[in-house]
Amino acid sequence: MSYLDVINRRRSVYALSDQLPIPDEELVRTVEEAVVASPSPFNVQSGRAVVLLGGQHRALWNEVVRPALEAVVPAGSFAPTAEKLAGFAAGAGTVLFFENRPAVEDLKARFPTYAAAFDGFAEHALGMVEVNVWNALAERGVGASLQHYNPLIDDAVKARWGVPVEWALASQMVFGGISAPAAPIEKLPASERVRVVR
Ligand SMILES: Cc1cc2nc3c(=O)[nH]c(=O)nc-3n(C[C@H](O)[C@H](O)[C@H](O)COP(=O)(O)O)c2cc1C
Repeated sequence: MSYLDVINRRRSVYALSDQLPIPDEELVRTVEEAVVASPSPFNVQSGRAVVLLGGQHRALWNEVVRPALEAVVPAGSFAPTAEKLAGFAAGAGTVLFFENRPAVEDLKARFPTYAAAFDGFAEHALGMVEVNVWNALAERGVGASLQHYNPLIDDAVKARWGVPVEWALASQMVFGGISAPAAPIEKLPASERVRVVR
């Protein structure tokens, strides 16, 4: 599969099962390699990931996210949310992505000329980590979607899984076997988004 085949294979897959097409060890190695391979400003490497598998993954969706949302969504309209969360819990795992904030603050102190840009750069870099992981999982036939229940769940996540308080939670990537492929999606033609100047 070419690199372009891989990135075209990546989609937001919501119909997930707990049956991964690859062993857990290979899944973890894939996430590790994708995180480490990703670029970052001044090579700061501030992106962090915590991989939750099996029961720990289900605990995230059933025991952390669900109660956090129940506290803010009116009970009468909670059913669609509950269904969505059950879909995530049905997957095999979740990668929690974080930014190691002290590393970014250290960059600001060391390179004051760029200080105002570093928060944005760090977000770009974490986006690169996320998409590299997403693509690498897609290449192995693992489906995934990217979720954002932070900051509602930050404290509970850090307390439950011993995550340093100075890591800022950025996103949650749910993954699993693909029960149903993503529906076709409309894309703007490249000609509207890419200009070539010769
Ligand atoms: C930065 C970013 C944030 C996203 N946040 C969410 C999210 O919170 N929940 C969700 O279901 N999808 C989220 N998505 C997925 C997008 O909706 C999806 O990528 C887009 O509609 C294109 O579909 P595709 O991923 O199948 O190509 C996010 C994607 C990106 C790049």
